[in-house]
Amino acid sequence: MTLPSRWPAVLQAVMKGQPRALADSHYPQWHPAPVTGLMNDPNGFIWFAGRYHLFYQWNPLGCDHRYKCWGHWSSVDLVHWQHEPMALMPDEEYDRSGCYSGSAVDNNGVLTLCYTGNVKFDDGSRTAWQCLAVQKADGNVEKRGPVMALPEGYTGHVRDPKVWQHNGEWFMVLGAQDLQKRGKVLLFKSPDLNTWHTCGEIAGHGVNGLSDAGYMWECPDLFALDGTHILICCPQGLTREAHRYLNTYPATWMSGAFDYDRATFDHGALHELDAGFEFYAPQTTLAADGRRILIGWMGVPDGEEMLQPTRTQGWIHQMTCPRELRYRDGKLWQTPIRELEQLRQEEQRWQGNACDAPDLDATGLEFELTPSSSVSVDFAHTLRLTVDSDGLRLERASLQNGETLTRYWLGDVQHLQVLCDRSSVEIFINHGEGVMSSRYFPGHPARVSFEGASDITLRYWSLRGCMIE
Ligand code: FRU
Repeated sequence: MTLPSRWPAVLQAVMKGQPRALADSHYPQWHPAPVTGLMNDPNGFIWFAGRYHLFYQWNPLGCDHRYKCWGHWSSVDLVHWQHEPMALMPDEEYDRSGCYSGSAVDNNGVLTLCYTGNVKFDDGSRTAWQCLAVQKADGNVEKRGPVMALPEGYTGHVRDPKVWQHNGEWFMVLGAQDLQKRGKVLLFKSPDLNTWHTCGEIAGHGVNGLSDAGYMWECPDLFALDGTHILICCPQGLTREAHRYLNTYPATWMSGAFDYDRATFDHGALHELDAGFEFYAPQTTLAADGRRILIGWMGVPDGEEMLQPTRTQGWIHQMTCPRELRYRDGKLWQTPIRELEQLRQEEQRWQGNACDAPDLDATGLEFELTPSSSVSVDFAHTLRLTVDSDGLRLERASLQNGETLTRYWLGDVQHLQVLCDRSSVEIFINHGEGVMSSRYFPGHPARVSFEGASDITLRYWSLRGCMIE
């Protein structure tokens, strides 16, 4: 049964909300963000028929986690995006509490979306259906309905299908919670996307010697990279450590040997994918030229998100910049994709004592900094980055109580590449060995300034704006 249409309300929300969001001094100049309401996970990221498609979790009706639709942007270069018709709305019984996250595949020339239909009941329980939808020639998406009910042995928290094809068969990883409330990643396979066979658990609590691995694993993504396999996922309920897993929920990765025949993933330790304040639910795809590209949500659920000031302007959250992934020396390296260099204006260089360095306009800026010893970078007196012999410290005030919050990256810092937008920074350490992504909400004009007595070398560019059209 189709539920009553909310199209008129969505249209009104966009008409009323977009001008206000775009006029907000914190609205990004070159990162994708919602034109109104709340955006969270990237979904259905794919290179298909000559364009990249990026779908996203979107509540156009408000800045909260209700009414999850799939918005849709496309691009030829991952930098210039255009709006596409909204892909999915929660208007069927099987997805009535939200068209939750998922992925997209090219099924013999048909762009096919695999998503979770989330259904919440009045008694607080829930179920989930894994569903398909296809894009038609006119660009509109047609739902094909559920292809998988809840697998036996798991609670209603089973979601976020990431589907790919290998040697003519389809594979799917799903985030799940078992009946003992422990997080897992499940693997399935299918000849046709419609009938799915369970292959078992490939990661999570109790698998490959992992213990205390949290109560729910969200948004898994499994892929081959540089001679290994990488599993990215978001475990909820990991114990906070002194220097990592400090956000409400982290995004993590592990590498190992994935065996298609035995359906096993023999993996090593969990690592945090991004050490900043805001990063969650990333998704990857293969670029036309074979690069593995990742985009993440520059937000984290259930933390201080609802205190972010942009909510009063009717919008909240943005994506990260697209990053190229490589695996080398047992580490996952992330660098901003080279296409982003199009945004650079004239290159400037500066060398000398940090405290004599010029102040830079933070609103659209990229800089590379080579420190010689300790140095601090102040972002509009709202966010502070300190480099010393231990590594990096990123500090800002809690939106709740003003207390100083700190995130860490430990190691020898030789080089920083920092990408700034009007309310975000992405700090790439040592050409991709580490990343710290964070939102911040500066007053304007926002300036970046350098502090400390040590010598630094700077290369920097103002970045052109690039709004979604
Ligand atoms: C991750 C997540 C997913 C879910 C979606 C709902 O942020 O909780 O597990 O599918 O968001 O919006």
